[in-house]
Amino acid sequence: MSGKQDLTPPANIDSEDAWVSVIQKMDEAYADLVHSQVEVEEKNTELEEARSFLHSIQSAMSDVLIVCDQNGVVQGVNRALEQLTGRSEEELMGARFTDLIATKYHSKISSFMGQLRIQPVRDCEVELIGRDGLVPLSMNCSPRHNHRGRLIGMVMVGRPLGELQKAYKELNAAHAELKLAQERLVQSEKMASLGRLVAGVAHELNNPISFVYGNMHALQRYTDRLCAYFDAINEGNSREQLKAMREKLRLDKAIRDLNSLVEGTMEGADRVKEIVNDLRQFSSTQESEKAVFDLSHVIKTAMHWIIKESKAPIDVVETIPTDLTAFGHSGQIHQVVVNLIQNAVDAMDASDPKRLLLSAQIEDRKVIFEVRDSGPGIPDDFLSRLFDPFFTTKPVGQGTGLGLSISYGIVSEHGGELVIQNHPDGGALASLTLLTEERCEESNRA
Ligand SMILES: Nc1ncnc2c1ncn2[C@@H]1O[C@H](COP(=O)(O)OP(=O)(O)OP(=O)(O)O)[C@@H](O)[C@H]1O
Ligand SMILES: [Mg+2]
Repeated sequence: MSGKQDLTPPANIDSEDAWVSVIQKMDEAYADLVHSQVEVEEKNTELEEARSFLHSIQSAMSDVLIVCDQNGVVQGVNRALEQLTGRSEEELMGARFTDLIATKYHSKISSFMGQLRIQPVRDCEVELIGRDGLVPLSMNCSPRHNHRGRLIGMVMVGRPLGELQKAYKELNAAHAELKLAQERLVQSEKMASLGRLVAGVAHELNNPISFVYGNMHALQRYTDRLCAYFDAINEGNSREQLKAMREKLRLDKAIRDLNSLVEGTMEGADRVKEIVNDLRQFSSTQESEKAVFDLSHVIKTAMHWIIKESKAPIDVVETIPTDLTAFGHSGQIHQVVVNLIQNAVDAMDASDPKRLLLSAQIEDRKVIFEVRDSGPGIPDDFLSRLFDPFFTTKPVGQGTGLGLSISYGIVSEHGGELVIQNHPDGGALASLTLLTEERCEESNRA
């Protein structure tokens, strides 16, 4: 657009030419005017579009928006604020923003303007005076500058904490559900392993029970003979008769046997008690405090039960020190050990020879227990999936695929390590590392 037009005709031009020139200039001025009118209208349309764009964004926000001048007078709000306060935009405009917030936060929010000169205010918790009571908000406040960069007010965006708290509660509930599901999985895996072990245990119990039974039969026979002998004494039989009877009933041998029969029976009963204790420890859901426990006993019981149950004979070579202890929940570690040995035995199902190497040693105050088998090993593709829940290559009904994933969780919770790999000389090698008590205390202190 050109500037103001000079319409005075030049003095040295005759009047007709002068008028033509004036008319031309007027035409030009008119054209400029029309042009600028179009430009203004275009700018107006753009402005209108920008306004409605901003308005639609502000209306869509679920967070409340308050725009203030530097004196805290409200200059702009959004629909979320109108809805929460139950006041219209007209009512809110011109109010002081402090009037929208509960009195007890006034000193806190009055300092916003001062703080903004240093840095924006983040996540300040306040309460908005809402239509239905106080609404907790997490408020962020940023400075508002004019085109010269002067601070002329602030923009506050508040997120109703009710929603956050709801989301938090939902998250908590989901977490609790997941934990419960995991506990159930652990329990069901434990039950599955327990089921597999029952046959072995039954066999194990059979031994002491059968020799207790045998001893009791012998004791019964001896009792009958002794009763017969005492009856003969009471009936007044002569010395010779009694001697003959004693020899016939082989009473001297019976009396010599009595002690060993009673001892054997006691031993059998103790063995039954031990097995039942092991079983109870394994099946208990409520774990007590972590404690030092006899790891060699845990390994040996697990091995014993599994080998007993195995269909084909297995050549077991074990180098487990007798006084090996570890720190943790013995029942849980038993579950891990059972799974590692069971996996090794299962892997050797079609192998010949079947050789199981169990070893344990202490290194750097850590206990390392290793299970090596002479099975086919683990295909490379599967190595990274072994600890995935439900990963199994066993037929339906023979494996849940939870054993290693649960074992991994248990071992991590004990601050230990579980590694399964292929042995360079064939077969798989599972290494379980656990902490000794001192080592565990040391890491707790760190
Ligand atoms: N020693 C091993 N040799 C070869 N493969 C193994 C060995 N140990 C584990 N695996 C593989 O890892 C898979 C997962 O083992 P995991 O103990 O998690 O489940 P599972 O033994 O199949 O079932 P579950 O333990 O629930 O009865 C097994 O199915 C098997 O394919
Ligand atoms: Mg398993």
